Amino acid sequence: MSEPIIVVDNIHKSYLMGKEAVPALRGVSLEIQKGEFVCLMGPSGSGKTTLLNVVGGLDEPSRGHLIVDGQNLVSLSENELARLRLDKMGFIFQNYNLLSNFTAQENVEAPMVLANVSRKERKDRAHKLLERVGLGDRTHHYPSELSGGQQQRVAIARALANNPPILIGDEMTGDLDSETGFAIMRLITELNTEGMTIVFVTHDPRMAEFAGRVIELQDGKLLNGSIT
Ligand SMILES: Nc1ncnc2c1ncn2[C@@H]1O[C@H](COP(=O)(O)OP(=O)(O)OP(=O)(O)O)[C@@H](O)[C@H]1O
Ligand SMILES: [Mg+2]
Repeated sequence: MSEPIIVVDNIHKSYLMGKEAVPALRGVSLEIQKGEFVCLMGPSGSGKTTLLNVVGGLDEPSRGHLIVDGQNLVSLSENELARLRLDKMGFIFQNYNLLSNFTAQENVEAPMVLANVSRKERKDRAHKLLERVGLGDRTHHYPSELSGGQQQRVAIARALANNPPILIGDEMTGDLDSETGFAIMRLITELNTEGMTIVFVTHDPRMAEFAGRVIELQDGKLLNGSIT
């Protein structure tokens, strides 16, 4: 029996620009089941990043309900939300967002520091994760000493640091050539096979093909529900 891990219920989000409210999401409802591999697509400005940020607790909805792994996000305090993000979600972005003064190993350890993982376990886990993404021989490299694909692998290892059940990716292959992009998507697919729930945004239909379900957004609304 499937079980929803993310429930988005009639979410609205507007941004205030001066005195004017710019609607980014206009009543989005959807359920994502545990272990699903979901791709969000839609034109630029349709609200994809906003939806990911709201689901990820990085941005607050103006209206609506949101449940992530049984917790009602809207009712959480800032601290509780930060903890939920740390435990439940890994984030991967287009521009990797690595800390440039930290080595690959230190970047992967960073979320574990926030989660109070002991120094020894941090080192151990970070090393294993970097091996897992094929970078066992690059642990002491700084981001500037790595290729784009390698930096994104570090970002994936970092997203996995606290073993979250959900992985969220915004245009994670957008800056990579297609071969490197495919390699990243194969890695993500492997994680999904092991039970991780994946929600990612892409403009590239070839990357969308990796997903089990494609959801389309247009003007802040879902287009015809979803396509399986
Ligand atoms: N911080 C913000 N302040 C004001 N308006 C914003 C802000 N973030 C997003 N918007 C507006 O909300 C709408 C949705 O933006 P969003 O970034 O979610 O689109 P997107 O689908 O991710 O687009 P892209 O494919 O270009 O990344 C757009 O009209 C955008 O201008
Ligand atoms: Mg976006």
